Amino acid sequence: MPIDLVALSTCTRCDLSLTRQRVVIGSGPASPALLVLGEAPGRSEDEGGEPFIGRSGQLLFRLLGEVGITRAECFVTNVVKCRPPNNRTPSAHELETCRPWLRAQLDDVRPRVVLALGNTAARSVFGYQQGIGLTHGRVTQLDSGPGLATYHPAAALRGGAAVLELMRADLQIVKSLVELP
Ligand code: URA
Repeated sequence: MPIDLVALSTCTRCDLSLTRQRVVIGSGPASPALLVLGEAPGRSEDEGGEPFIGRSGQLLFRLLGEVGITRAECFVTNVVKCRPPNNRTPSAHELETCRPWLRAQLDDVRPRVVLALGNTAARSVFGYQQGIGLTHGRVTQLDSGPGLATYHPAAALRGGAAVLELMRADLQIVKSLVELP
């Protein structure tokens, strides 16, 4: 069943609806090469209504551009669709209440490859128990096809060159998955 965008954009299933400016649904083509999954909208996204339009997004799409993947080819969304106050990590309850929206999106969008950014996204979509330091770059099969996790670009903005190089290596794997026949 197609996702009910009106219901999603007016969702009040958790208290993030009390503090958000907008529900950041996500956007991109149907059947994209890549679905990019972040944690939750930040301030810029809450104001602008689109995921990854702030500093993290600029870095992310520069790195994807280095392996020849453009934003136009990606469906971009987050595990949690509303901004947590002060950008705190979403609570277990918020993750649970928002989960059906992500599941519906994945069913609807049918991406060739899924790229999860950071611990929250990697745990939500791949069910990893270990942290991103141990799970990044590991190819995992989902119902929709292959996927992998890498660091969140905010970690690269904080962590500098070492994290950037790990992300670059992971994105090379993403590129090879996208190019599989
Ligand atoms: N960080 C995220 O995880 N998602 C966004 O959309 C922006 C920043």
